[in-house]
Amino acid sequence: MAGSNKISRLKRNLKFLSDNNKESKRLEKLRKRGRSKWCSFESSSIHRTGSFAAVDIPKGTQAIEYVGERLKNDDAEQRGIDLADETDRTGDASVFNFVLDDKHMLDGNQDYNLARFINHSCEPNCYVDVIKKRIWIIALRDIAEDEELTYDYGFEVEHWKEHACRCGSDSCVGYIVSQEQWPALKKLVKKEAKKMTKKKRIKRSKSQKKRK
Ligand SMILES: C[S@@+](CC[C@H](N)C(=O)[O-])C[C@H]1O[C@@H](n2cnc3c(N)ncnc32)[C@H](O)[C@@H]1O
Ligand SMILES: [Zn+2]
Repeated sequence: MAGSNKISRLKRNLKFLSDNNKESKRLEKLRKRGRSKWCSFESSSIHRTGSFAAVDIPKGTQAIEYVGERLKNDDAEQRGIDLADETDRTGDASVFNFVLDDKHMLDGNQDYNLARFINHSCEPNCYVDVIKKRIWIIALRDIAEDEELTYDYGFEVEHWKEHACRCGSDSCVGYIVSQEQWPALKKLVKKEAKKMTKKKRIKRSKSQKKRK
């Protein structure tokens, strides 16, 4: 009896070691895929850490792969919700999910995913594309050494107020919103400005009445 207990404990330990080994090999592969000779990572004037061209990058170059954990849509959605809760609590987290296909997402919130440092810009020099189920950040034009790499995060206009943009480009619209939705955004910004002016006018006339 004692002998069979020992054997099953040994089997469990072996399985644990083999699973561990598989997991570290999987992570090592992703770490390698996530590296890029084209990019460096430094402090950014847009937001905290950004990614910069380590050398001149020709238009069309697959500059870096956006690697992460492949998840079924439901699981990815739950992670997104958990992360959004963390943002509310700490103001720190961001959502890193990318659509891979109609059933799967890629959760890029992993330390080995260096592409997660790429900031958004209203005048981006890169775009994102899915090529054979892998996500790539691709140069939209020739990029000079030391230029910060950026792409359009493609955020929905619905949440515009939550994401002020500090990209500093000439065409910055002030919010991180997908370029496709800029016409809708511009209408919303105008409406909000009108609302604020009306509020200010009411406040001013109230304080004038009080003084009289
Ligand atoms: C995926 S991270 C990008 C890397 C980030 N700079 C860092 O150091 O973690 C996304 C977050 O960076 C910030 N960010 C990226 N682009 C921005 C921009 N144009 N304006 C303001 N904040 C930006 C936002 O807080 C966003 O949620
Ligand atoms: Zn901007």
